[in-house]
Amino acid sequence: MNDINKRIEEILSGLTLKEKIGQLNQQETPVDGDAESFKEQVRNGEIGSILMSVGATAGNDAQGAISIDFYNELQRIAVEESRSGIPILFGRDVIHGHRTVFPIPLAMTASFNEELIERSYKDIAEEASNDSIHWTFTPMLDLARDPRWGRIIEGTGEDPYLGSKFAAAAVKGLQGENPADKNRILACAKHFVGYGASEGGRDYHRAEISDYSLNNYYLPAFKSAIDAGVKTVMSAFNDVSGQPVTSSKYYLTEILRNRLGFDGFVVSDYDAIVQLIRQGVAENDADCAELALNAGLDMDMHDKIYIDKLEKLIESGRVSEETLDNAVRRVLRVKLIIGLFENPYCKQEKYDINKHRQDAKEMACESIVLLKNDGVLPLDKSANIGLAGPFVYEKRSLLGSWMLDGKVEETPNMYEAMKAKMSGTIHDVGGTGLSWDSSLKWLYNSDVAVLCLGESWSSTGEHRAVSDISLLPEQKLLIEKAKSTGKKVVGVLFCGRPIEMQGIADNFDALIYAWHGGSEVANAVADIICGDAVPSGRMPMTAVRKATHIPMYYNVTSSGRPVNCYYGENAGECYIDSLATPYYPFGYGLSYTEFSYGDIKCENKEISLQDLKNGKKFSISIDVKNIGGFNGKETVQLYIHDKLASMMRPIKELKAYKKVLINKNETANIDFEIGFEDLGFYMPNGEYVVEKGEIEIFIGENCLTQRKITIKVK
Ligand code: GLC
Repeated sequence: MNDINKRIEEILSGLTLKEKIGQLNQQETPVDGDAESFKEQVRNGEIGSILMSVGATAGNDAQGAISIDFYNELQRIAVEESRSGIPILFGRDVIHGHRTVFPIPLAMTASFNEELIERSYKDIAEEASNDSIHWTFTPMLDLARDPRWGRIIEGTGEDPYLGSKFAAAAVKGLQGENPADKNRILACAKHFVGYGASEGGRDYHRAEISDYSLNNYYLPAFKSAIDAGVKTVMSAFNDVSGQPVTSSKYYLTEILRNRLGFDGFVVSDYDAIVQLIRQGVAENDADCAELALNAGLDMDMHDKIYIDKLEKLIESGRVSEETLDNAVRRVLRVKLIIGLFENPYCKQEKYDINKHRQDAKEMACESIVLLKNDGVLPLDKSANIGLAGPFVYEKRSLLGSWMLDGKVEETPNMYEAMKAKMSGTIHDVGGTGLSWDSSLKWLYNSDVAVLCLGESWSSTGEHRAVSDISLLPEQKLLIEKAKSTGKKVVGVLFCGRPIEMQGIADNFDALIYAWHGGSEVANAVADIICGDAVPSGRMPMTAVRKATHIPMYYNVTSSGRPVNCYYGENAGECYIDSLATPYYPFGYGLSYTEFSYGDIKCENKEISLQDLKNGKKFSISIDVKNIGGFNGKETVQLYIHDKLASMMRPIKELKAYKKVLINKNETANIDFEIGFEDLGFYMPNGEYVVEKGEIEIFIGENCLTQRKITIKVK
C-alpha cells in the first residue's frame, strides 16, 4: 500500500463516526454573531471544509473581504484543539480572478489561446493561495447554446473541443504539476453534468440529454479536466432526463468515476442535497442523505444534511459504513495531496500584481472580437472623438459576475483609458448612464463617435436568466441618433453573453466585442482602437440575429429536409418570417490585417483503420499569408465532417486550431496531425468508434469555411 493510502487508513481508523461525517460537511463562513458556535463545531471535528462566502448565489452578492487571521484561527482550532487534528479545506469561488480580475471565462475562451489561459489561472492561483484559499470552484465546463442563461458567461460556449482545451489549461494553471506547490490551488470541474442544457436558459431547469449527446457534447470537457488532474468535481443542480444528478449513481459513479476515471471527490452544489425533496425523489432529509451518499456524492455543501442525518442512517444500516469510509477516504486523499497536513496555515507572500495586470490586459486584448470594420479602425491617436454611452464611465460591470475580490476602484474606465491613450480631443458627454446630450453637438464637433455600450454585470451570472438578449432601448436609440449624423460610428460592447445582433450590429461602421473583460479591459480596448494592439479574438459561440432563433449552434446535424439553415443551405425556408442564419458564426472574428489561405495539402489521404488505431496520422498542412498592412494573429481552424456513419454526425466539428502571429507580407505553414482520437465519436453506450469511410476536412477562418479535402479511413 503506498504511503498516502497508508496514511489515509491510519487517520480513518482513528475517527469516530461523527468525525468521519464531519469530513463530508462543508459550512459557509459564519456571519458576525455565531462565530463562537461555529468554532465549537470545528473543535468537535464536525466541519471538514469551509465555503469562504455567504449565500446561495455568492457571485451576485457582495462578499466580505477575506480575513486571513480569522481563517488561520479556525484552522488552528481544527489542527490543535480538535481530537482528530485534521485541517480544514477552504474553498471560494475564484472563477476568473481574485484581486486582479481577468475576462469572464467565455471571453477567455474567445482568445483561443490555451497558453494564455493557463498563465491567467496561474496568476489567479497565486493571488488566491496568498489569501487563505486552498480550493476554487472553477472551471465551469457546462457546454451551453442558450445565451438567455445567465451562467453562459462562466462557461466555454457551444463546442466540446474548445471546452476541452480550456478545461485542461485552467486545471493546469490552477494546480500546476503539483497542487501542493506554493501559489497553487485545487481546481473543481463543474457542474457535472448538463447544467448548461437547462431548458429555455432558465437557471436550474430540467435538461433532456440523450446518452449519445451527453457522450459527444457534454462529457468531453470533463474528461479533459480529469485527464489534466482535476481532483474535485461539483455535481449539478439540474436533472438529466428525469434523474437529479445529485442522487444519480449512473452519472456520479458509473459515468464520472467508472467511465471517465475520476478519482477525486465530488462536492454538491449549494443546498443541492436537500433540494431532492423538491425534485420529488426524496421524502425527507434522511432520504436525501441516503440517496446522495449512495450515488457517490462525497461532500455536502451547506445544507447540513450529512452531519444531521448520516449517523442514524449508518447506525440503522440504511447506509453502509463502507460507503461512508470511501467518501471520507476520497476527501482525506485530496487533503493529503495538497499538503494540507504539512502546511495548514496561510503565510502571505508578496507577488507581482503588475505582472498579473499585464497578463489580464493581454488576455483582454486576445479575447476581444472585432466583429465589423469598414476601415474606420484603427483610429489615429490624434483623432477628434465623440465618446458616449453608459459604459464611458462604467467600472463595476467591466469586471463581470462572479467577481468576489476585485477592486472596482482599481479598474480604469473607458474615459480614463482613452484619455491616457489618445492625443486628440475627446468630447465626452459627461455623467454616467445615458445622460448624453440629445443635441448630439458632441458628435457634430467630432470626427468619429465611439459608443461604449453593453449589459450590466448583474444581468448575467447565477439566477440571472433573461428573456431579452438585446441592448436596452435607450442604447439602441443612441446608436440610431449617432448614425443619423452621418459620422462614422464605432461600437464597443461590454457584454457577458452574445446578444442578439439584428438591428444593432447593422448600425455600426465598426464593432468591438469587449465582453466583461476584467480589470484591464478598457486599456485593452484603447490599445485596439488606436492600433497599438491588433484584435485576434474569435467567437466561442454563435451570435444569433434574434433571440427567437435560439438554440442555434454550429456543430449541428443535418436533417433529411432543410431545416437547419445555420450554413445558409435553406436560409429562406427555416422560418417563413425571418432569416435564421447566424449573425456571427462560431469561430468568427476579424483582424486589422487580412489573411489569404492556400490549398489544403495532405500527401497520404487514405489510412487503414488499423493503422490509425496503431497511431498513424494524417499529416495535413496549409499556407496562410498575411496580405494586409498589420502584423496580426490568425486562428487557423480545422473542422471535420463525417459524411456517412452509423449515427448522425454534425455538419462540422472543430478538431484542431492553431493561433499564430503572421507578420505582414509573410507566409506561415500551418500543419496538423489528425489521428484516431480526432476522427471518431461516442456511441450511446460510451464506446468510442472510428468508422471506415470518407471524412471531409475543412480548414479556414471560422466554421463557415468551405475550403476542404476528403480523406478516407479504409
Ligand atoms: C452556487 C453555484 C456554484 C458555486 C457554489 C458556491 O450555487 O451554483 O457554481 O460554486 O454555489 O458558491
